[in-house]
Amino acid sequence: MSVNWSLPFDERLVPSVGRRPVDVSQYVAEHKASLSRGTAFWESVASELDWKRRWDTALDSGSPPFYRWFAGGLLNASYLCVDRHASGARAGKPAIVWEGEGGAGGAPESRTVTYSELRREVESAAALLRDEYGVEKGDTIGFYMPMVPEFPVLMLAAARLGAKFTVVFSGFSSESLGERLADAGARLLLTADGGWRRGSVIPLKQIADDAIGLAPSVESVLVLRRTGKDVPMVAGRDRYLDEALRRVPAGASVEPEDMASDDPLFILHTSGTTGKPKGQVHDTGGYLTLLHATMNWVFDVKDTDVYWCTADIGWITGHSYVVFGPLLEGATTVMYEGALDFPKPDRWASIIERHRVSLLYTSPTAIRSFMKNGDSWVDGRDTSSVRLIHSVGEPINPEAFNWMHRHVGRSTVPFGSTWWMTETGGIMISVLPGRSMVPMKPGANGFAIPGVEVDVVDEAGRPAKALERGFLVIRTPWPGMPLTIHNDPERYKEVYWTRFPGSFYAGDYAVRDRDGYVWVLGRADEVIKVAGHRLGTYEIESALVQHPSVAEAAVVGVPDQVRGEVPVAFVILKAGAKGGEALRQELVLAVRERVGAIATLRGVYFVSKLPKTRSAKIMRRVVRAVVAGADPGDVSTLEDEASVDEVRDAYRQLKSEVDGTRA
Ligand code: PRX
Repeated sequence: MSVNWSLPFDERLVPSVGRRPVDVSQYVAEHKASLSRGTAFWESVASELDWKRRWDTALDSGSPPFYRWFAGGLLNASYLCVDRHASGARAGKPAIVWEGEGGAGGAPESRTVTYSELRREVESAAALLRDEYGVEKGDTIGFYMPMVPEFPVLMLAAARLGAKFTVVFSGFSSESLGERLADAGARLLLTADGGWRRGSVIPLKQIADDAIGLAPSVESVLVLRRTGKDVPMVAGRDRYLDEALRRVPAGASVEPEDMASDDPLFILHTSGTTGKPKGQVHDTGGYLTLLHATMNWVFDVKDTDVYWCTADIGWITGHSYVVFGPLLEGATTVMYEGALDFPKPDRWASIIERHRVSLLYTSPTAIRSFMKNGDSWVDGRDTSSVRLIHSVGEPINPEAFNWMHRHVGRSTVPFGSTWWMTETGGIMISVLPGRSMVPMKPGANGFAIPGVEVDVVDEAGRPAKALERGFLVIRTPWPGMPLTIHNDPERYKEVYWTRFPGSFYAGDYAVRDRDGYVWVLGRADEVIKVAGHRLGTYEIESALVQHPSVAEAAVVGVPDQVRGEVPVAFVILKAGAKGGEALRQELVLAVRERVGAIATLRGVYFVSKLPKTRSAKIMRRVVRAVVAGADPGDVSTLEDEASVDEVRDAYRQLKSEVDGTRA
């Protein structure tokens, strides 16, 4: 277990707030009633969306675990998120309020796109994709974009034509990008001449060019001009987006394609324990139904709200809760391009102040960094518009919860830690200010949303006792669940549905407290969460062993006060190779280049042996325990028990050097 396992169980109850405060027993009864209605419960939620054709079957479970929600139904995500709001009362309402970081020290830029403008832009972009690139239903379009309004516009344009989009976070390297584009089979790539981050330019186009070498499916590239810097353009393959759009006739109209509910909307890759990233394929009808439910129950969204989710669209949180969730509800979604503390630590608070943000969705890492910067940065800003806060991505420690609740939430607003993951499509466990809200507990996630049954189970799949650590499972199929893993249905079955037959295994450790609240503690597998971003240790290890001096590597997460956890590597060198500071830096750089900056190693430790089983499998569990200063447990299956001491000594020595330098 790698993170925050020792969360103090602050069982203090913060009184219920929100639309309908309830006590736990009331919520449990309500939740039970939702489950007893079976799929009819979700049908009533789905009926609130505008379907082109109603479904025939609420849930097709003919071939588990490949469930099909609302089979036979037809709808289109772009129609639901755009057209419905583009005429009538919301036509002039801001759909997207965008703020640029401000470039190299420049004044912040901003841009507002109303719903009627959004429709025009989406239709022009869809016309371009259809008429100049022949994009049609079933195609796949890759995205490697900075946080600018054109990003959601183009995603919605793809969805309008029935093409799947596959987004790769702009912090990933060319190799990671290439691997994902190739796996998804993207034939068109949408990128930019760069993106601003902390006053510097991320050279997206150059990275994309390298990636395309690994992704032969990519035939064409459209490049958004964001920074105006010159970038190499390949004749016949690359075009600037603005130039291409100029060829689209004004007022071009593109009818939204009829999509089956179980037609894929997108593929998004996640890191796992071993092997290449898994392309999670999400459907259309189930996904939008879950977003509709959670935007209302969890976020209590109203027409008057200004909603800001600080995530990047490159991650699932951005897909679901920057783009599709809020736009589905006709809400105003704030999009910010850059770093939350740039150029000064109060940037995030000033965005709240200037845009009068009322609903805020952010991450524990962001909150801990605000906290570390000091109270004055937030106390000097007017954040009184905020009426609700949620966090996501990793466990939130009670100190961070309390700090945010006090400094932004005036100790009164609803505040939850919403648990979910790329696979679930949307929020699964949370408090529900927009529906029936139980008292909050700082650090707890709460209860499963209505219509979803979760459990914490022991190794044998039996419900764990209160305060006993177990594994988090989802017992029932839910709308928004993956259709499969792209190109690998067997893996989908094996990773999620085999360990506890009949249930979805999330890969997280969790406990329920005496009141029944779920506390998700962290990953039970070899995934690490760096600043809430999900990284596979395997990807980092593969990057290390590609270095000519490295024979073997084991990567584990170690706790970090702000970022939750960060990766460190234990490395066995090849015969003749010499460890030392220079090599250490080279390896850190190699990982940054091959995986991306988010995978930056905090430490590299050279050892001569690693804890392994007799069949030569590295036991990361033991390495993790050693760096956590915990008892490594049963080591009798190790090939060489001295490896444990060696890892411990290497870690201690370097750690004391580093700590010594800092002090
Ligand atoms: O370990 C859990 C953690 O994030 C993992 C999912 O990561 P990802 O697919 O990148 O999606 C993140 C955003 C939805 C989970 O398996 N996690 C997410 N939210 C929480 C959390 N852990 C504790 N509390 C949360 N609120």
